[in-house]
Amino acid sequence: MFEHIPASEPDAILALMQQFRTDQREGKVDLGVGVYKDGHGQTPVLRAIKKAEQQLHARQDSKTYVSPTGDAEFCTAMLDLVFGKSADKSTLRAMQTPGGSGALRVLSDLLSAANPDARTWVSDPTWPNHLPMLRNAGHNIVEYPYYDSKANRVDFDAMMGSLEQAEKGDIVLLHGCCHNPTGADLDASQWASVAELFSKRGLFPFIDLAYQGFARGLEEDVEGVRILADKLPELAIATSCSKNLALYRERAGAAILQAGSSIQADNTLSKAVSFVRSNYSMPPDHGAAMTRMVLLDDTLRADWSEELESMRMRMVRLRAEFADALRKRSNSDQFDYIAEQHGMFSRLPLSTAQVDQLREEHGIYMVGDGRINVAGLPEGNMDELAAQIVAVLD
Ligand code: LMR
Repeated sequence: MFEHIPASEPDAILALMQQFRTDQREGKVDLGVGVYKDGHGQTPVLRAIKKAEQQLHARQDSKTYVSPTGDAEFCTAMLDLVFGKSADKSTLRAMQTPGGSGALRVLSDLLSAANPDARTWVSDPTWPNHLPMLRNAGHNIVEYPYYDSKANRVDFDAMMGSLEQAEKGDIVLLHGCCHNPTGADLDASQWASVAELFSKRGLFPFIDLAYQGFARGLEEDVEGVRILADKLPELAIATSCSKNLALYRERAGAAILQAGSSIQADNTLSKAVSFVRSNYSMPPDHGAAMTRMVLLDDTLRADWSEELESMRMRMVRLRAEFADALRKRSNSDQFDYIAEQHGMFSRLPLSTAQVDQLREEHGIYMVGDGRINVAGLPEGNMDELAAQIVAVLD
């Protein structure tokens, strides 16, 4: 049976991660996979998570199944994180998923079943894994322009002009904050215009919220989501604990939906449950259990918020330092946008050949489209990196 299966193309980001691990060169620089790193190049277990894990180890007395929707308190805590504790949650539902990707896939299955004729609009560019994930769930994908790579900002007019062509019931995948791969986000007035357009044309927002807390702050980063939720009756959100709780390998996240009524929300959740049950049956518990403990305990939560904020501020500093080094080396302001963008990623104006050259000659790893993970930048030592990048551009 298997002799007819050709080898699949490896995922570009994961292949790069593997290649970096096997590179023996001293001084190699990892600007590839989207994983936070501290000043020592480590991805630490967060302090609050360590404490929660110890408590969980001491207290947990059973490993029996939880349920396909996961832990109810975790789900409520995730809804509170996105919508605020005081928000009316009568038409909101959440289910625990294996990471943000698990949420994206369950919601992709759900939306495809809800409207098989819809087209799904994705930003050009987007996280590469969005495309196979949606395709495998049966979505008919169309791209909308998002980024002006000359001006290094969102091309909002082009985006809106394109989405004017979408038809009632079409799904639009949006990045809630920290757009991956560009780092260019919508501002509040742009989110309001998006909400207006979606309301006018009957479009459905499907929001990938993988980086809450990495752009401007935990509350600030859900401004766009809340603007959409206030204006529109329905939406879906895939949120993740991989980045802001650094739980990458534990696979914790949530699929969130807002429906037109409480009954519709219950029915839609039950449909999502049927996809879970026939796929992985139930989500893993460990990461979500620790997240619940951190979010619900005042002391752990305060410690987490502080550590998350220090990670965010480190990325802000790295952006400024890198833009400054590039300004000095290139004698131009063409890289200043890096200091203004948000979250973990920005894109450098490099060709694939130039990206390959930097990796092969200097051990500098970044994704083929020039996407860099700013958390991997060498703090306090940017000049050499800036010089190498400017040199390949000459
Ligand atoms: C990334 O974009 O690098 C991260 O989201 C990790 C991944 O799974 O691709």
